[in-house]
Amino acid sequence: MRSAGLVLLLAARRTIAQSGSSILEFVDPLIGTANGGHVFAGATLPFGMAKAVADSVTDGQGGYATKGGKIKGFSHMHDSGTGGSPSLGNFPIFPQSGCPDDTLDSCAFPETLRQEYVYNSTVAASPGYFSVKMVSDIKAEMTVTSHTALYRFTFPNSPVERNATLRPLILADLNDLPLSRSRGAVSVDEETGRIAGNGTFNPSFGIGSYELHFCADFSGADICDTGVFMNNRAGSQPKHLRTTADGINISPEILPAGAWTQFEIPNNDNQILVRVGLSFISVDQACSNAESEIPDYDFEGVREAAVQAWTDTLSPIEIKPGDGVDRKFQKIFWSGVYRAAISPQDYTGENPLWDSDEPYYDSYYCIWDSFRSIHTMITILDPLSQINMMRSLVEIWRQEGWLPDCRMSLCKGFTQGGSNADVILADLFVKMRELSTEHGLDWEDVYEAVWTDAEKEPLDWAVQGRGGLHSWKNLHYVPTDDYDPYGVGPFTRSISRTVEYAYDDFCIAEMAHALGKSSDAQKYSERSGYWMNMFKPDQKSRNFTGFLQPKFLNQTWGYQNPIFCSPLLEFDSCYLNPDGHETYEGSSWLYTFYVPHDMATLITTLGGNTAFVNRLDYFHTSGLLYIGDEQGFLPVYLYHYAGRPGKSAERIHYYVPDQFNTSSNGIPGNDDSGAMGSFVALSMMGTFPNPGQDVYFITPPFFEEVSVTNKLTGKKATIRNVNFDTSYKNIYIQKATMNGEPYTKNWFSHSFFSEGGVLELTLGPKESDWGTRPEDVPPSLSRGHELTGYSIWT
Ligand SMILES: *[C@@H]1O[C@H](CO)[C@@H](O)[C@H](O)[C@H]1NC(C)=O
Ligand SMILES: *[C@@H]1O[C@H](CO)[C@@H](O)[C@H](O)[C@H]1NC(C)=O
Ligand SMILES: *[C@@H]1O[C@H](CO)[C@@H](O)[C@H](O)[C@H]1NC(C)=O
Ligand SMILES: *[C@@H]1O[C@H](CO)[C@@H](O)[C@H](O)[C@H]1NC(C)=O
Ligand SMILES: *[C@@H]1O[C@H](CO)[C@@H](O)[C@H](O)[C@H]1NC(C)=O
Ligand SMILES: *[C@@H]1O[C@H](CO)[C@@H](O)[C@H](O)[C@H]1NC(C)=O
Repeated sequence: MRSAGLVLLLAARRTIAQSGSSILEFVDPLIGTANGGHVFAGATLPFGMAKAVADSVTDGQGGYATKGGKIKGFSHMHDSGTGGSPSLGNFPIFPQSGCPDDTLDSCAFPETLRQEYVYNSTVAASPGYFSVKMVSDIKAEMTVTSHTALYRFTFPNSPVERNATLRPLILADLNDLPLSRSRGAVSVDEETGRIAGNGTFNPSFGIGSYELHFCADFSGADICDTGVFMNNRAGSQPKHLRTTADGINISPEILPAGAWTQFEIPNNDNQILVRVGLSFISVDQACSNAESEIPDYDFEGVREAAVQAWTDTLSPIEIKPGDGVDRKFQKIFWSGVYRAAISPQDYTGENPLWDSDEPYYDSYYCIWDSFRSIHTMITILDPLSQINMMRSLVEIWRQEGWLPDCRMSLCKGFTQGGSNADVILADLFVKMRELSTEHGLDWEDVYEAVWTDAEKEPLDWAVQGRGGLHSWKNLHYVPTDDYDPYGVGPFTRSISRTVEYAYDDFCIAEMAHALGKSSDAQKYSERSGYWMNMFKPDQKSRNFTGFLQPKFLNQTWGYQNPIFCSPLLEFDSCYLNPDGHETYEGSSWLYTFYVPHDMATLITTLGGNTAFVNRLDYFHTSGLLYIGDEQGFLPVYLYHYAGRPGKSAERIHYYVPDQFNTSSNGIPGNDDSGAMGSFVALSMMGTFPNPGQDVYFITPPFFEEVSVTNKLTGKKATIRNVNFDTSYKNIYIQKATMNGEPYTKNWFSHSFFSEGGVLELTLGPKESDWGTRPEDVPPSLSRGHELTGYSIWT
């Protein structure tokens, strides 16, 4: 035990660590709600299913958008940060103070009529809570439990609507955000006012459809009348209605329909509470979820429990910011950590697709984005949740035959490149194999699942597995004019699919090696070198030579300008378009850097360390790299492989705060379920991963000290800056110690987080020779034990 005197001394020397609920003050859920960030800013629990927020008319993929114009409803489920079509947002409710002239039809029912501006300065968001006041002077507040949203509407003393008496009306609409409903049913109970119903909807970036059920109950006022509405007309009879997709000359997808309950003047403070239970199973389960999770409409109690849940989730991380660090850095950091814990969403007990005792998570949206940093962040922050998410992935494979590359709303989502679930499974394998086994993950099944990706081509590889496997196995690349009669998918992206398949195969090789499957290990590590087959050594672009290029079945080269598909420079049809190109959401310039497992060979291929660093510098400074797309993350840190860790630190200090800041548009692209959040948070901790490998690059944290207490092992890992300066001039590591011993490698492995320790970094204003020698850089497949003293096979 340390003496009290020593403890006091230490406390006096250092600024007090942030911990507990105080860190939630630094979380601003509104960061990334403007300019296409699409962050979900509302109330949710960590990885919770219920996600309540106001829905903006424009830019509302995540529900509320700053500068998103009017509000059309308050809905209870969302995805966060996604592009394309909005997700979920089913069964929005909407309050009105009373109907003008006390005439029912003078209330506004369809979303096009009822939508309303808000007093923008009244928008308030914090973990587990969202509130806003509309120009009708109705204040809306919301909080949640796992499967239930709780709203508190405060009505004005005198209604703003002309000639209305204060008899509030609250409707529930059968629509969802993308207006995808094909069938729906709703009923209202005239005694209790309860509105319950269901609908069939489409996923936002995938195939198929899903059914959702809801159950809304009210508290705080006596019921005066109830009924339904269809289109812009409402009535007290009947008490239920159904819609269908089978009508003629109507658009059921956009036909407004729902039910309403009207109240007498509220009993207390002009407030009415609305409790909305949700379920993918049945209306009964939606109601029982609500009744058991929020039996007494205790808004403050529910909100406090949500705050406690967030405190528990974020508290494994502690920072000592350092005297004088700008508060904005703490806000950027904690808000980033927070956004990494919004999805995937825990739907355990709510999966109607199969009976299983395994956990069921959904909204892996998309793994193509999330494998790059989200799942590593969750592994550090909340390892048990990460294990459960991976158990759920494997169960999806058991039940449906394939791992997803994207999944939302119980449906298969579109695959954007390779089968990148292989990467997140390998990431957990190399970091926490034994602990995961103890917590129920079956690695033999995992291996069979990833082996399926590598060996079997699915009929529909647009939503699972890989296409072009016949060519991959026989020609050793995905030909630009592939002959692939074995399955169906977008026959584009030959270059980006080739490099992703190569890395996915490497990740499978890692597992095969450690599981004693040596011939598979051999085979997949060979396949991980196939990226080279699309490398055209004499292809020039700007002043650089050697780029990935299209290659045909007959082994001759095609041409795609290496700059094309750079989001900031030349970008056209570079998504999953039928007329798409050979690289996906990025250029050949970008994908030529993507050999995460064998950077040593890539650096040699590109002319050695100096030439590589010049090329990487040019890539970062010419507009060719767009950090708002997730493939831009790893290139920030690739300098480490060329023995220039100081340059990685320089780059990240450029992107933060220039591209990641505290404004509502403070992230450069879609947050993609927390991809941007986890990138910036890990970067500021000084620990960015090479995902899929047991490698964390070392750069100085943005704070004097960062610690993580492992929730499973109880061990604490601390990274401490010596000579820390808050103007970030000292960003170069001069020397380092690990647990008091000199440490020269410019990376560490996950054992640091599972076993704990202290990494102390002494900083200075200039690059030093720390971490620069060949034996200091992270492992590469082609560089064995003899040269580096360690092997990539962990
Ligand atoms: C709130 O902001 C929107 C822009 O999204 C603006 O059109 C609207 O007038 C503002 N509301 C008020 C009450 O000022
Ligand atoms: C309010 O109601 C009165 C009596 O019904 C009517 O004369 C008046 O025009 C109404 N006012 C408005 C603003 O509609
Ligand atoms: C939706 O509710 C209606 C009316 O209760 C019912 O007939 C229908 O079977 C329900 N649909 C689903 C998918 O549960
Ligand atoms: C290419 O190199 C030439 C000669 O060194 C230089 O003048 C030019 O600016 C370079 N171009 C680019 C795009 O870097
Ligand atoms: C190879 O295939 C490409 C694409 O089909 C074609 O344009 C080219 O003429 C072929 N070259 C040879 C030598 O057959
Ligand atoms: C904040 O970040 C956004 C998105 O990257 C960027 O466009 C904006 O210029 C940044 N604002 C400031 C003040 O740095």
